[in-house]
Formats: sequence, structure tokens, C-alpha cells
Amino acid sequence: MKEAVFQPQWYCDARYAELEREHVFEKLWLTAGFTSTLKKSGDYFTLAVYGREIVVHRLGEELVAYLNVCPHRGGVVATGKRGNTRPVCKYHGWAFRNGAALTGIPMASDFEADEAWRDKSCGRALRRVAIQVVGPVIFINLSENPLPLEAQFSEEILGWIRRMGTTSTSIQTDFRGDYNWKLNAENIRDALHVLFVHPTSFSGVMPDALNVLKQDRVLRVQETPLRRYGSFGAEKTPDLRALSLITDSHIDEGQYWYDALVDRCMPRESFLQIVLFPNTNLYSVAGRYYGMQQYLPTGPSDFHYRLTLAMPRMLRAFDASALLISIARSERCVIDEDSVILKKVQGNLAALAGQDFRFSQGDYERPLMDFMRYMADNIYSSRVESSRVESSGAP
Ligand code: FES
Ligand SMILES: [Fe+2]
Repeated sequence: MKEAVFQPQWYCDARYAELEREHVFEKLWLTAGFTSTLKKSGDYFTLAVYGREIVVHRLGEELVAYLNVCPHRGGVVATGKRGNTRPVCKYHGWAFRNGAALTGIPMASDFEADEAWRDKSCGRALRRVAIQVVGPVIFINLSENPLPLEAQFSEEILGWIRRMGTTSTSIQTDFRGDYNWKLNAENIRDALHVLFVHPTSFSGVMPDALNVLKQDRVLRVQETPLRRYGSFGAEKTPDLRALSLITDSHIDEGQYWYDALVDRCMPRESFLQIVLFPNTNLYSVAGRYYGMQQYLPTGPSDFHYRLTLAMPRMLRAFDASALLISIARSERCVIDEDSVILKKVQGNLAALAGQDFRFSQGDYERPLMDFMRYMADNIYSSRVESSRVESSGAP
């Protein structure tokens, strides 16, 4: 066993959330959604990071992203989570034809008495957000100077996303998570919890995994002093690209009535997860359908959970909406099984914040440790951690 890197306050202290906002969510590429959610010109969806709302909008052939903040007085172009609309502010009708520069003002004389200046935009525009599409996935980046996507994700990761091809029917569902977003990001990197938190939900599709648990002898541990702990602390900071990973679990679900109707271009006997740093779990279930779970922070102790499900390209068109709704229901049950535990974990971490409490982690939790090590070294260390250590006088 090894002493964990993480500190309880990382999960509930607003100073850490602020650092994550600035150095993770407003700097790195984030998934926005699937391209097929935006089929017709005018289709849009929004997503928010720490209250900052971004519109992803199909305008003609182009996909654009911009902040949902009108430069007139803070009105919005998009009033809902998704729908179809023109790129026009819903407060006083300013138009932004390409989702960028101001291109029209109704009642212009009320805005500008001087006729010579009436048709001048004077640089007013929506703030564009960088956008890039890989396979069926839309990525966005809030930074003014985004890093190349290839600096964040390895060629292997990008290759798997491209291999997903295109999506067809999709549904998005949204709900609230009452705990820190990182608990979910860690949970999807934690293979062991599945056996204990979801034994029944996965028994039909992952018999191998449950057999492993049955055959594994429970180890009787000896009581020993704390010095048995070894620390992950000396390890070097992992590379950003190492924080996203692929996991491949064997599943065997037999035949489904729609198998011949969709292009199953992903592995057919795999629950293949493409875990994307910082906040996304993208997956293919036997190539039959794809899922995207996004953990969008709203504060230090809560986040917005978005679950999007999409069918792969259809070989013959059929109405998949009822199918996707029923899959979403069963996925929600699994998510709720996690939430019961994670809410309790959040409560424990909040109660321990600021105390010197040592958690322990195992070798199988390497991906979590890399995640935490990266956050400790690159996002927190030179900022909150050092001021905390200095003020407490600790060595
Ligand atoms: S706030 Fe957008 S047009 Fe007034
Ligand atoms: Fe889980």
C-alpha cells in the first residue's frame, strides 16, 4: 500500500476549484458533444464550465462555438440547453450572422443617434471559442491560444476517436452531481470499484470480471505501524498525454435486433472506454452505441453531469430514440450506484479538509495517482500548496 498524493481539501476548497478553472478548464481541450447532435443549420447545444456558458452552434455547414454573452448588455443567443435558433441575441435582437462579429442591429437609431456611425459595429462581437472535430466528437478550448490537440491527447487516443466514425441519432440528458467533479474522473479510472459498487448491474455482461472476484482469496492483513506506507510522492510529474487512456473490458451480450442496422466499426466484444483528461468518459458498447459522460464543474462541491448517447452511423435508417432513452435509463441506474458512494466520499473529504489524514492507494490505482500527481505538481503546487505549507510552518 502506498500513501495517497491527494489532500481532502482539493475536493471542497474554493481556492482549488479556482485554480482548476483557470489552469485546466480554461486552458485545455474539453469535449463538447457529438457532431450528430447538431444536424440542421441553427441546431445548438450549450454547456457551462463554472457558470461560463458556451454555445456550440451549426450555422450552415460550419460548426462554431462562442460564449453565450452578448456584447451589448450580457444577453444570450441561446436560452435553452439545446434547440434550434438563429445567432441573434434574445434580449434586443443584435445579430451575429457567423456566430462572431456583430452583423445587424434592429431599431438602430435607438442605439446610435449619429447616422454616420449607425452601421458601424466598432469591433463588437461574440467571443469565439476554439473548436475542433475528431471522428464524431466536438472539442472546444476556452484559451485565447489553445495548445495543439496532439499535445493533450496521444495519437493512439485520437486514432480510437477517429475510428468511431460518425454518429447518427443522439440524446443528451443532464443532471446534477453533488460532489466534486474529480471524484467521477477518478471513479472511471478505478476498475476495482465495479465489482463492489455494480455487482448486479454488470453481472450479465461481464461474467469474467465477477468470477475473478469469486476466485480471489481475501487477504487477512496484519496490523503494522504506519511506516509500512510507501509514498507515490517521489514519482515525477506525468506528461499531460499520459492522463488520458484506453480501457478495454470484454463483454458478451449476444445478438441485438439492431445489430445489422448500424455500422459497428468499434470492437464488437468490448466495452471500450476512452478516458479523456480532464473530465470525460467516452465509450463504445460493443460498437452498438456510444456514450459520453461529461463532468462539468459548477463549484468546488458540485458539477453538472451530462450523459450523451449516440448510435453509430446507420446502415439502414430506423427510429432509435426509444432505444436510446431506455439505454439512458439503465445507465442512469449505474450512475446512481456510484453517486450513493461518491456523495458519502465527498462528505468525508469535506469533514477532513485541512487535517493531516493519510489515505492509501494501491498499484492498480496508478491512473488515479498520475491524475492526482499532475494536479498537485502542475495546477496546485506553486500556488495554494506552497502558501499553505509556509503559513503552517511545515517542512
Ligand atoms: S443584450 Fe444582446 S442585444 Fe441587448
Ligand atoms: Fe461506477
